[in-house]
Amino acid sequence: MTSTLFSGAECVGQSRAVEQLVVGKATSDGAGVKLTRVLTQSLQHRLDPFLMLDAFGSDNPDDYIAGFPDHPHRGFETVTYMIAGRMRHRDSAGHEGLLENGGVQWMTAGKGVVHSEIPQQEEGVMEGFQLWLNLPGKDKMCAPWYRDFAAADLPRFTSATGVVVTVIAGASQGVVGAVTREATAALYLDVHLPTGASFFQAIPAEHNAFVYVYRGEVSIAGRKVPAQRMAILDNSAQADGVSIEATAEARVLVIAGQPLNEPIVQYGPFVMNTQQEIYLALSDFRDGRMV
Ligand code: FE2
Repeated sequence: MTSTLFSGAECVGQSRAVEQLVVGKATSDGAGVKLTRVLTQSLQHRLDPFLMLDAFGSDNPDDYIAGFPDHPHRGFETVTYMIAGRMRHRDSAGHEGLLENGGVQWMTAGKGVVHSEIPQQEEGVMEGFQLWLNLPGKDKMCAPWYRDFAAADLPRFTSATGVVVTVIAGASQGVVGAVTREATAALYLDVHLPTGASFFQAIPAEHNAFVYVYRGEVSIAGRKVPAQRMAILDNSAQADGVSIEATAEARVLVIAGQPLNEPIVQYGPFVMNTQQEIYLALSDFRDGRMV
């Protein structure tokens, strides 16, 4: 089901519909950080090029204080978006940064990094997201890359209806994001909508896309999407994007990308194309070559 949407007299596009609503799975990772895994391994093919989305949020320090001590990654990118809180990042390539309220850390693990992510607070709220974005096979062994973006440095615009859009990756309504990626054409938006406001985002039909509601409630093509739900959007050839209407004041992530259509072999923090490459990653890590 799709619906044509109008803004005044102007047709702004045909929206994708919600194919499936997903409730995240409560789990823990690192040294015992409690989190919700919204995009799990079983959805990696459906949501190719995205491999994982974790949501974390707690005002109980016991849920986050231990952080993520030294651990490796190879073959993909991690994007950490801190809504509230402070976390220090250090890695084996010599990078170090402090991620604070509204900031984004983009790390391309490439051929491998060993890093830690440790909270810099003993009380208060820590809330945010970590998204894993796959790399095409030809780039999986690239040199690691890393950048921190403070909240004030992220491209942002406000629509005529008061919708505030932060463009972490890709582009929205002519505003180019902090990061752009050629192979995956990743789109990552944080959209804040006042009650009753609508927002339309263009998305090519072949790109896989989802919306995660982390505050309030929205409606997409007539389907209500409450907080803490991921709406997987269909790939209808007739749709040219997604229209999101806030039925209550809402904050949502809009994430989309071009599928890589390559084999995905994951073993914990390593995501490669073949089992052989996973064995190599394990031996490289064990023998200290992932630095
Ligand atoms: Fe990590």
